[in-house]
Amino acid sequence: MTTSTLPSGRPLGVAAIGYAFMGKAHSNAWRNVASFFDVPAFEQKVLVGRDDEAVAEAAAKYGWAESAADWRSVIERDDIDVVDICAPGWMHAEIAIAALEAGKHVLVEKPLANTLGEAELMASAAASARARGVRSMIGFNYRRVPALALARQLIAEGRLGTVRHVRAAYLQDWLSDVEAPMSWRLRKETAGSGALGDIASHAIDQVQHLTGQTVTEVTGTLRTFVAERPGPSGLEKVTVDDAAWATLGMTGNISASVEASRVATGQKNSLKLEIYGSLGSLTFDLESLNELNFLDASLPVREQGFRRILVNEPEHPYLEVWWPQGHIIGWEHTFTHQIRDFLCAIRVGEAPSPSFDDGLQIQRVLAAVEESARNRSVVTEVPALDLGAKSTPEMPLQPELSREAGVDAGPRRETGAPNWERLH
Ligand SMILES: NC(=O)c1ccc[n+]([C@@H]2O[C@H](COP(=O)([O-])OP(=O)(O)OC[C@H]3O[C@@H](n4cnc5c(N)ncnc54)[C@H](O)[C@@H]3O)[C@@H](O)[C@H]2O)c1
Repeated sequence: MTTSTLPSGRPLGVAAIGYAFMGKAHSNAWRNVASFFDVPAFEQKVLVGRDDEAVAEAAAKYGWAESAADWRSVIERDDIDVVDICAPGWMHAEIAIAALEAGKHVLVEKPLANTLGEAELMASAAASARARGVRSMIGFNYRRVPALALARQLIAEGRLGTVRHVRAAYLQDWLSDVEAPMSWRLRKETAGSGALGDIASHAIDQVQHLTGQTVTEVTGTLRTFVAERPGPSGLEKVTVDDAAWATLGMTGNISASVEASRVATGQKNSLKLEIYGSLGSLTFDLESLNELNFLDASLPVREQGFRRILVNEPEHPYLEVWWPQGHIIGWEHTFTHQIRDFLCAIRVGEAPSPSFDDGLQIQRVLAAVEESARNRSVVTEVPALDLGAKSTPEMPLQPELSREAGVDAGPRRETGAPNWERLH
């Protein structure tokens, strides 16, 4: 699992906390990242859970040298350099802050925290740690879907002209059944929110990341359709949303709609994104993760139409190291790409992206959606982050030309008559 060494000469010691859904996905990534990418040397040292026996079994299966049931003692160890937090949201702040203060690089799953207050403390701990060369990153893994990374490149290159609006819908159905049991994800004190923090957070991150623009105001609506669910001692009140809707006002004169549901019967894990610009449009669905649909409106009108790009060429982001063309990749690869980028940032001493500041900014958007929903969907401002603290964007934002004074000043189509002329 080693391909190059750090200046210290010792491989980075990694600990992961949590070994269920995300713990397994991240473990899989730690296990295979060095087989494909050139990353600094590391060792999968310890997997942490709560139940000694169960975590020991998982550690053996997932390639960890040891297991432990007390995360505090693990982050104090001198041979641990990286802490990967795959535990539920209510634990993120406590573990991340302790780990950063102990000088460990931290990767934490999304959303950053359960509350704005916790997120602010985490961002502040990350800023102090950054000054000491300690890195932190939040796991918005869909930034590492090659098709979405390509979409971001095309938008940044101006291929859509001026982006005007984005539609994002993250739809699942695992709570459609009224008998689906209570879990930490359905209690506000453990999950923070429901579909909003769990999956709308991904959609909001994508809307901002793809366009390179920031949400400034929102309207929100939250619904809980199934008010009680079976718990260990009878029916228990559900205290989070089943579904969330938001409209987003953004810098760059962009508007976006976001919907998220865990009761969208028949939709399994569909993150649909549609980006509409003056010169073209893009559509994507996570259930067809290797495909990006691109309409190039600069072509003659008679040749226009969405074309399906199979994002599986060596020229595409992350794909040079994977299989020959057309030998497609899957959802789990996004976590491998995430670990690769995190490790490479540590090696070169740069702030990885998305940062805790990015996580905090998304948390502000989530909080604004909740506030708006409490106030009958009134337009609610999202306080701006201090830009000095933001991580460096990975690539240039949209061309300045199209952003002047918030006016749609994007380049005109070069060929083909504008559609409106045809209507008259
Ligand atoms: N990026 C994604 O696509 C994605 C998908 C699902 C979940 N998540 C996020 O990942 C995080 C974890 O979610 P999950 O689905 O893996 O949850 P999960 O319930 O499947 O697993 C949680 C894990 O945390 C462990 N844990 C709980 N308390 C602990 C403690 N005190 N000490 C040590 N371990 C403890 C549990 O033992 C379990 O292994 C959440 O923040 C969630 O929002 C991200």
